[in-house]
Parts: sequence; C-alpha cells; structure tokens
Amino acid sequence: MTENNPDPKEKIIDGRLIAEEIEASLIKKIARLESEGIIPLISVILVGDNHASVVYVKNKERSAHRCGILSKKDVYPESFTERDLINRIEELNNDPLVHGILVQLPLPRHIDERTVMEAISPAKDVDGFHPLNTGKIFTDNSPFYPCTPYGIIKMLDYYDISVKGRNCVIIGQGNIAGKPMALMLINRFATVVSLNIFTKDIKSFTQKADILISATGKMHLIDESFIKEGAVVIDVGISNINGKIYGDVNYDRVIDKVSKITPVPGGVGPVTVAVLMENTVKSVMMKKNKDPRKHV
Ligand code: GUN
Repeated sequence: MTENNPDPKEKIIDGRLIAEEIEASLIKKIARLESEGIIPLISVILVGDNHASVVYVKNKERSAHRCGILSKKDVYPESFTERDLINRIEELNNDPLVHGILVQLPLPRHIDERTVMEAISPAKDVDGFHPLNTGKIFTDNSPFYPCTPYGIIKMLDYYDISVKGRNCVIIGQGNIAGKPMALMLINRFATVVSLNIFTKDIKSFTQKADILISATGKMHLIDESFIKEGAVVIDVGISNINGKIYGDVNYDRVIDKVSKITPVPGGVGPVTVAVLMENTVKSVMMKKNKDPRKHV
C-alpha cells in the first residue's frame, strides 16, 4: 500500500453508511412530526411478481420501517388492468393520510407506464417520475428528483467529489437513472456525455471519463480497458445470476485503476432507497407548509 496505490478499501464509496446517515437524520425529523400527530405514509403498488421488483419493494418497506414511515403495500396480479390501477392511484391521490405513491417498475406490457406515471398526483410523486416533476429537473427546481440519480449526487457530495468541469460519461439513457442523471450533472456544470445501445465505440468515450456512471444491467460489461486512470466509477447495474448479484463493472479488474468506486451490492442501491424516504418526508413537509415551493 503506497500513496500511488492506496488500500482498495479506501476507494469504496460506502452506500450502506451514507444510507444509514440519511435514515438517522430522517428518524429525528419524523419524531418531530409524530409529536405533532403526523405519521408519514408511503403507498407502494406492485403489479405482477417480477422477482427483482419483489426484492426492491421489500427493501423499501424495510427502510420505511427503520425510519418510522408507515408503508402500505398493494400487490396485484399480472392481469390487473390499467384502468383498475389508475382507479387505485386516484383513491390514493385523494387519501389525505397518504404522502407518497410509488408504482414499482417495470409494469406488465399491457399497462402503459407513461399513463400511469401521469395519474400519480405530482405532490405525492416521491419517485419523481411524473412529467411535471421530471420537467422541472430541466430548471433544477423539481420537488422530487428521481431517487437513483439523486442518491448518486448525494454519494458524490459525501466524498467531496466535484463534478464541475469534469468529464462525466453515463452509459444508459433510461428514464429511471441515465437520463435524469445527465440533466442533474449538467445542472452542476459537468461536461456530460450520454451513451446508449446505439453508441459506437463506447470505450473511446469511457476512457476519457473522470466520472463514469454505468446503468445498463449488463453484468461485468466494464473492465479496466474502459477506465481512465484515477476515475470515479458509479455502478448502477444489478444483474441477478443464479441468486448472486453482479454490477455492470468488473470490480476486481478495475479496482487498481480507479480512485473511487461503488460496490454492488452495498453501493447505489441502499442510498436510492434512503432518498426515497427523504422524498416522502419532503412530501409531508410540503403538505404541512402548504407551499410546494418550500423545500425541507
Ligand atoms: N424499478 C427500478 N428502479 C425503480 C425506482 O426507482 N422506482 C420505481 N418505481 N420502480 C423502479
């Protein structure tokens, strides 16, 4: 272990630690709300039995429980109709005890994701997927930023990693992570390159990345040949292969080259869940303050 070759453990961006700190600060806020008779409540809807979604929803319920947020889960069969789902969302929109509504994605193919996201009240959209809220990322004043990129920003901030003037390369332009991430980095004056499945010669871009964010779900797509020496690597991907979880990045092959890296599991995932709880508490505060421009 030398100055040029630090202990690999020093390079880890510890998502579990950051999530614990976010939850600890929420626990205090929620105790104050409880003393005023307000109990935050998140309503989670799961349609079908996609294995990964079942696990993600369980993690969200556990985090809510740790924080003192009530979570109410509706589980519907794969055959549930779009109309019935929207009717249920409308009930939750009108329920004054519900502060956050989350419809776990992906939805079955016969249900239109965009229609469903638009049905959620923007004031209860703790996932940050309603077009009114995603649109406000553009002007950097969304009440709810999508949890994955918001969590990543928190992780970079925690380790004092500035993005200003740095080359940030994002692999994947999905609505959940890659696309909102690009906008949020642009808002922080990063130089942003967004890659997608049609991008030719991915390495020619990633090799210039000071900060590389991979959100493809392709197990171990990234090895040392993609990485610039000293890069910060954020691994959003999750692949479940025979019950074992892998990221997009081949950790063992890149660890000597990177300056910081998120592990999988224990990286982006726990922080994503913790900021969902933060968004839920923010929804409570916005309702309490009756002024949607006021942030917690
Ligand atoms: N599926 C994968 N990630 C997410 C997320 O952040 N929110 C929802 N609703 N579904 C997801």
